[in-house]
Amino acid sequence: MVLKKIFPAAFFNTVSLIGASIATISFGLVIFLFVLEIFGTNQKPYMGILAFVILPALLVFGVAVIILGMILERRRRLKTGDVSTHLPSVDFNNPKHRKNFFFIAFVGASFLFSIGFASFQAYEYTESDEFCGTTCHTVMEPEYTAYQFSPHAKVGCVQCHIGSGANYFVKSKLSGSYQLYSVAFNKYPRPVPTPIHNLRPAQETCEQCHWPKHFFSEKLHKNNYFLSDKNNTRWDLTLLVKIGGGNIEAGPTSGIHWHMNIGHQITYAPSDSSRQTIPWVKVKDVATGAERVYTSTDAPLTDEQLAATETRRMDCIDCHNRPTHIYRPPGRTVNTAMNLGWIDPDLPDAKTLSVNLLDFPYSSREKALDSIKTQFEEYYRLRYPDIFPLKKESIQKSVSEIQKIYNRNYFPDMKVSWKKFPDNIGHMYYPGCFRCHDGKHQTQDGKILSRDCNVCHTILSQQFEKDELRISIAGIEYQHPVDIGDSWKEMNCSDCHNPK
Ligand code: HEC
Ligand code: HEC
Ligand code: HEC
Ligand code: HEC
Ligand code: HEC
Ligand code: HEC
Repeated sequence: MVLKKIFPAAFFNTVSLIGASIATISFGLVIFLFVLEIFGTNQKPYMGILAFVILPALLVFGVAVIILGMILERRRRLKTGDVSTHLPSVDFNNPKHRKNFFFIAFVGASFLFSIGFASFQAYEYTESDEFCGTTCHTVMEPEYTAYQFSPHAKVGCVQCHIGSGANYFVKSKLSGSYQLYSVAFNKYPRPVPTPIHNLRPAQETCEQCHWPKHFFSEKLHKNNYFLSDKNNTRWDLTLLVKIGGGNIEAGPTSGIHWHMNIGHQITYAPSDSSRQTIPWVKVKDVATGAERVYTSTDAPLTDEQLAATETRRMDCIDCHNRPTHIYRPPGRTVNTAMNLGWIDPDLPDAKTLSVNLLDFPYSSREKALDSIKTQFEEYYRLRYPDIFPLKKESIQKSVSEIQKIYNRNYFPDMKVSWKKFPDNIGHMYYPGCFRCHDGKHQTQDGKILSRDCNVCHTILSQQFEKDELRISIAGIEYQHPVDIGDSWKEMNCSDCHNPK
């Protein structure tokens, strides 16, 4: 046998031979998958894990087994006096030795190369969106799906979740290994809890691409609404949101961002882990060092409670907590679809029906999509038999639109929907800005944290279907679409719009 001449005698033992087969087979498979990866167009999410993590690990394992086998074999031979204790001597003047040496060196080098290459690929692969988003399919499905329909669809998961630098790399890979374990053993929580408590500070992630000095003045929102009445009464609202920022050349400007991040430091104490109730807020003027503390008159903290609560310096994430995993409330998505005519606004009760069908707590996606179709069609067949035949096509289109909305925003397997993930921008469906700006946070000397409807935005215009347009550059007084007296001035909007 040729091999007998090349490898030392100690190689020929059962353990080492098993190791050699493991190493050779996995080496062959790595090469094979690597070639597939180069020429394949349609890459499968699990292939990367197999080709660059599992097989190379097996390869290393195989080599370790070979060495172990050789050590054991040598020990055995030493005991039985089968062989001398001398290490084999290599004589480069001997052509046979030379040939064997180069052969072994070549095999060793190609093993090392393939392991090195694979670990580089493994590193790249674990940083890819494909890995983050699809490897643990069910677990990350909600985040990944929402992400693909968000403004950040082209920003990698790692750019917000890890950022650069060795420190967070190690931290994230460590917690990542734990996550792989919890997925493998089905130990993960449903839904994945939010907020993430060890998220990298926004200065090192968001501010790599957006920074407060570069925010500009105002942004126009043109909102279209359809009420939950028989006619889906339409009304429109225009808001000028005072985003603001600070720019060295333009001097200090006002607005939401400037106030929050450059001129002032805001620290707060939340009384729940999801940071939805904020009884204590401190603002510090960076230039003068002056401080003001606002406390909630609704649910104040005692001094002991305050001392026991961990405070947090406000940053981007405290408002933009859902910049990319946005699970939209059905009120909003249905308004948008109706405005575009994708859900037919001429179908009586379409708004109420669509919202109710979306929000029903189905046990699985299949059941949901099925019920949406049958119930929507049944509703018109039974209640509006005269309309049904005329509107058949637009009913079909509406159904498929509602199903699409469901697919993007509801994930029954992970128990994920808009109800579980508050979005802190705004105040309509979640407390959001009103966690502090509810008009009930005061300083000792009676200064109130403003809830004036024109502090954060100017309401430029409002118009109900048949009414006259009310419009003013200086801002008009808000008119709530249905008569609820003055309660919208005192209660939080979310108390009615997203009741507990
Ligand atoms: C634009 C930045 C950004 C990108 C890109 C991003 N995330 Fe997130 N992610 C966040 C923020 C912010 C949170 C919520 C943090 C909080 O509330 O504490 C979050 C939360 C999460 C959570 C916790 C559960 C939840 O929904 O709050 C998971 C899981 C997650 N992201 C996975 C991913 C995956 C997978 C990708 C890539 C497909 C990704 N993220 C891309 C910013 C981002
Ligand atoms: C790698 C660069 C990058 C990072 C990191 C990043 N963003 Fe963005 N972000 C963008 C780009 C590009 C857009 C513009 C997308 C567009 O206009 O379609 C954007 C848009 C936005 C918008 C406007 C969304 C809208 O509805 O128009 C917000 C808000 C935002 N980002 C917040 C954040 C926050 C908060 C973080 C940190 C968690 C963050 N971004 C991290 C690149 C980034
Ligand atoms: C006090 C809450 C708050 C904080 C803190 C905050 N933002 Fe914003 N941001 C807003 C609001 C409100 C808007 C307007 C949203 C809208 O128009 O829908 C906005 C808009 C934006 C936009 C979109 C601008 C545009 O023209 O469309 C970006 C980008 C953004 N913020 C990034 C950031 C970053 C990065 C940080 C951290 C440095 C940050 N924000 C901190 C409340 C905040
Ligand atoms: C953690 C508490 C907290 C949250 C949440 C919060 N703010 Fe504020 N906000 C403050 C404090 C404190 C001030 C400074 C008040 C002062 O000057 O004493 C302030 C001031 C402002 C101002 C300037 C007001 C003025 O009188 O000029 C604007 C605009 C503003 N916030 C917008 C927002 C928006 C929009 C949101 C939601 C996206 C928001 N804030 C969420 C605490 C908060
Ligand atoms: C602390 C800042 C702040 C105050 C005070 C405030 N708003 Fe807003 N409001 C916002 C922000 C930010 C948005 C945009 C949210 C978004 O981008 O989805 C908003 C959005 C809205 C919307 C559109 C909601 C939707 O989702 O369709 C209405 C209506 C509204 N505000 C009415 C009011 C009224 C009425 C008041 C006075 C009682 C008020 N706001 C006070 C910050 C504020
Ligand atoms: C006492 C309960 C209550 C309070 C408080 C309340 N609303 Fe409403 N709101 C309603 C009801 C009821 C409707 C009608 C629902 C419908 O027709 O779909 C409505 C409808 C709306 C709509 C139209 C919704 C859509 O999907 O078309 C908007 C926008 C709105 N409210 C904004 C606000 C804002 C902003 C606040 C806080 C400043 C607020 N509401 C406070 C009860 C309330």
